[in-house]
Parts: sequence; C-alpha cells; structure tokens
Amino acid sequence: MNKKILITVFYGIFLILFGDAVSADQRTYLPNLNYSEQHKPVLAENGMVVSQDIYASDVGRDILKKGGNAIDAAVATGFALAVTHPQAGNIGGGGFMLVYLAKEHRTIAIDYRETAPKAAFRDMLLGDDGNYDEDIAWYSGKSTGVPGTVMGLLQAHSKYGKLPREVILAPAIALASNGFSMTPALYDSLAGAKDRLKKDAATRRFFFKSDGSLYFPGQLFRQPELSKTLQSISDYGTDGFYKGQVAEQLITAVSENGGLMTQADLDDYQVVERAPVMGAYKSYTVVSMPPPSSGGVHIIQMMNILSGYDLKSMGHNSADYLHVLTESMRRAYADRSEYLGDPDFVDVPVKTLISMAYANGLRDSIEMEQASTSEGVRPGVLFPESPETTHFSVMDSEGNAVSNTYTLNFTFGNGKSVAGAGFLMNNEMDDFSAKPGTPNGYGLVGNEANAVAPKKRPLSSMTPVIVIKDGRAFMVSGSPGGSTIINVTMQVVMNVLEFGMNPAQATAMPRIHHQWLPDSVFHEPGLSIDTLRLLEAKGQPVVDRSFWGGAATLGITQTIVRGEDGVFQGAADPRGHGSKASGY
Ligand code: DON
Repeated sequence: MNKKILITVFYGIFLILFGDAVSADQRTYLPNLNYSEQHKPVLAENGMVVSQDIYASDVGRDILKKGGNAIDAAVATGFALAVTHPQAGNIGGGGFMLVYLAKEHRTIAIDYRETAPKAAFRDMLLGDDGNYDEDIAWYSGKSTGVPGTVMGLLQAHSKYGKLPREVILAPAIALASNGFSMTPALYDSLAGAKDRLKKDAATRRFFFKSDGSLYFPGQLFRQPELSKTLQSISDYGTDGFYKGQVAEQLITAVSENGGLMTQADLDDYQVVERAPVMGAYKSYTVVSMPPPSSGGVHIIQMMNILSGYDLKSMGHNSADYLHVLTESMRRAYADRSEYLGDPDFVDVPVKTLISMAYANGLRDSIEMEQASTSEGVRPGVLFPESPETTHFSVMDSEGNAVSNTYTLNFTFGNGKSVAGAGFLMNNEMDDFSAKPGTPNGYGLVGNEANAVAPKKRPLSSMTPVIVIKDGRAFMVSGSPGGSTIINVTMQVVMNVLEFGMNPAQATAMPRIHHQWLPDSVFHEPGLSIDTLRLLEAKGQPVVDRSFWGGAATLGITQTIVRGEDGVFQGAADPRGHGSKASGY
C-alpha cells in the first residue's frame, strides 16, 4: 500500500471514530495560537473587532470578511467568547449591547441583563442571622439571575444582522467541539480560581482533566457539552436555550444549588430595547447605556463636570487633573448609591443626573486645593479576584458600530455549571443591594432603589460607549472591572477626546479609581510619585496598594477609533493578556 492510500485509510478511520464531521470552516479554528498578535495596535481599512481573546477577535473579523455587518460580527464574537473566554464570556449571564446603525444615524441600547426570578424576595441573599452572606450572594444558586445573553445576542442578530444564524454560531460550535489550544489567559484564570471551581462536579468536568489537573497552554481543550448547547441554539434559536432540554438542565443545576429559578422565569424573560443616554463633550456626542446600568448616566455626569475645566493646561495625569477626576468620581458614585436601580421598578432621575445644570452645581462644590471627603465612610469589602466581565468593540465599513459588555459577574460566575449543557451560572444577583447600606462584592453600597424584587434587574456598572462625531461613529470602547468600569472607560474616552491620544496611547495610560465608599483613590503603577504626593497634599486619600488580588490594574478596555480618513485603529488592552485587535 503506498503512503497516500495509507493516510486516506487512517483519515477515514479517524472520521468514523470521531465522527462529528469537521468542516473546512471549522478546521480554521483548530489550534493555531500566535502569541505575537496579542495586544498589538492594529490599523485596518475594512473593519475591526477588538476583544479580550485572540480566537474570538478572529471569529468576528472573519464574519466581517464573509460580508457580515458589525452586528453579525459582534454576535459571533459574543458566542465565541463563551467558549474561549468562559471566565466572563458566557451564555449563562447577561449584558448590554449598543448598536449604532449608520444609515439611520441611530443608536439602540439592547438590555439583556439578567432578572431576579419570580420567587425572589428582598432578603433572599441574607443568612439566617439577617446579615449579608457571601456564600449565598456569591456562590449559591440564589446568586443566579435569569440569563439574558442568548436572547440578547439572538435578538440583536435577527433584527440588525445580515448573515444566517448558523453561520454566526458555526465558529463557536467548532471551537467547543473541535477544541482550541488552551490560552495562557484562560489557563491563568482557571489556575487562580481552581479551588473554588473544582468544588462543583460539572465545572470540574468541563475545565479540568479527569485527574483534576489543568490543560496547559497549548494543549487541546474541548467542550463537547457546550458544543451541544450551542448547536441547539443554532438549530432552534432562543427555544434551543430557554425551552426543552437545556432549560431543564439549567433549572436543575440552579435548584440543586439552592436557587429559585423555574421554567416560568425562562418563559417570561424579555430583552428590552431602550433609548441610550447621551451627552455632549466638545464636538462629540457620547452615547452609552441607560439604567439598569449606572454606567451611562455617571460617565456623562462626570464628563459634564470635567468639561468645565481647562484640563489641557492642567496636563494629563497631573495632580490637578487627578484631583478633579477624583472629585467627580466621589460625587457620581455617591449619587449611584442613592438613585440608581432598574427603571422598570423605580424612578431614576436620569435627566437631572446627566444635565449640565446639575453638573455645574457639583463642579461649584469642588475646591482645587482641598479634597472633599466621602461622608459616612465604611470600610469597603473589595472582591479579591481579577476583573472578569468582558467587553468587545466592533466597527464595519458601512459605518455601523457595536459596543458590548457582558458578564457572569465574578470570574466564572458563581463557579457552578449546568451539567449536560456545558456552561457556567452567573452570580449577578449580588449586584442587587442585598442589605441596603451593606457593601456588595465590589464594595458598592446601595439602597432601596436597588433592593431585590421579583423580575427586577440588578443595577450594573457596565458602560459600553459609542462616541459620535460629525454624524459618524468615531470611537467604541468599554471595559470589565465591576465598580471601576465607569471610571476606567471615562478615562480612556477622555484621553482620546480631550488629550488627543490615539487609542493605543489612551489605553496604556495609568488610571485611577474612586467610588465614594471606601473613600480611597486607587491607582495603577505608572503615576509619578511626585504627582501622588501632590494629590495627597490636597487631602486625597491615595491608596498605595494593589487593587483586586495583586493585579494592580484597573479595567481591560477594548477600543476602536475611526478617524476622518476612515481607517480603523484598534487597541486591545495589554492588561488582559490574550486581548487582540483583529482588522482587515
Ligand atoms: O454589572 C456589573 O456592574 C458587574 N456585574 C460587573 C462585573 C465585572 O465587571 C466583573 N469584574 N470585576
């Protein structure tokens, strides 16, 4: 037998044994890691996808190449991230997507945030002693909200996309069923959370080898159960997730972990399209997410305050600039704790909060030489793991843009998985104010406006942003980072809009964060010690310590800027290793 025949016979046997036919399309995504492509600023003429994962960015770019628009690419990227970046990419969580439709000069805010189950009640996240209980609020089935991601992505696709659903889901299915080379980013994330994750039998089976060890970077990592679920979504749309076997498996997993979700909750789940919040900054229009996210309201509120200063002459990241940033943050986050919640349940004074008149008053209360203090300071409980929500940005040649942030809340959600269906459960219920006045997993305090109630959406900080200039989408950005998201995103937007930086520069600059309570200015490495001393001299409580488990980073932004020349400039944040800008 000659060599060719031998190879053909062996290949035939291989196909019979491992029969889930590998199409040419799927083979593209077999192991092909190219580390050198990570974090590079990329220029492209036809379209751009920037996400926290190298496979997912390439999936989106290839959908653009196939003739898909920004929405097709975003949805494909979203499903791919659920496979390759499961610490935050998800089908079991929720999020927000801003879609800018170039032809209509219109931005739509798609709210696919999780909801509390019908059986939810105000004190459900408290222990028997009536106190906030982390085991319940962070790790139990009660921490899981009714997932919105699948309906959100599919609704965005069916209303605003162009390519067939099967084409959009094919890359994610391939990545799950054929596997991909374990990335260093996922390996590190799993290693960091392994003790928690291995406690759950399904999570252990999905992410660890049978001997309990991890797949090392470069080793083939497959997720057959997830691939089945994605196939069901591809075949049956939302019914493939919210009804039938997947739904049953989800309900079983939630209730085995003490949760309250039922099939009726899945039947009732609705995605809501909302009018985005908009603000003007110089010649730009900043468009972002309205409540139940606090992100859009507060990024606009803070930029309104900042617009009254001559920031250029203060100088980027000077003590004066960092001072007015901190003062704006302290005021905005204080308002957040008081006024923000799900607008379908409480009246949120959005108009006032984003009005220039209100910002003028707040600015007047800021003294340049003396810091204010946050009233009623309580020590914040900061969650000791790395930020794991994830953001991706997409722009296409027609001028459409998508800015999407979605999450399971903590890294790998509550750490529990849905047996048989291959995906993790969120712990988004902790974004409610479980016990008004008591800080949640991000040290955020809230009150009645964000108390738990049946079918209510927990307040979020996720801040997807699209900036419009001269009637065209100019910039897309956003970030993970829990409570820091609003501040992080604002600093990147300001770096571009106010300080004229390109997106790579804007991304690289060190950032600060203040969230009212605790009354501390957290900062990244890279700020001059002289500057920090000047800031302290004004009375700002600069905290010289790592934020979130030694990571010392604030956020992981994914940004695209499209200049007047029409060229897309993509900047994947090096803070999240694995991030990639994919353009063509
Ligand atoms: O919606 C929110 O504000 C949070 N659930 C986001 C969580 C997050 O960014 C995770 N990173 N720390």
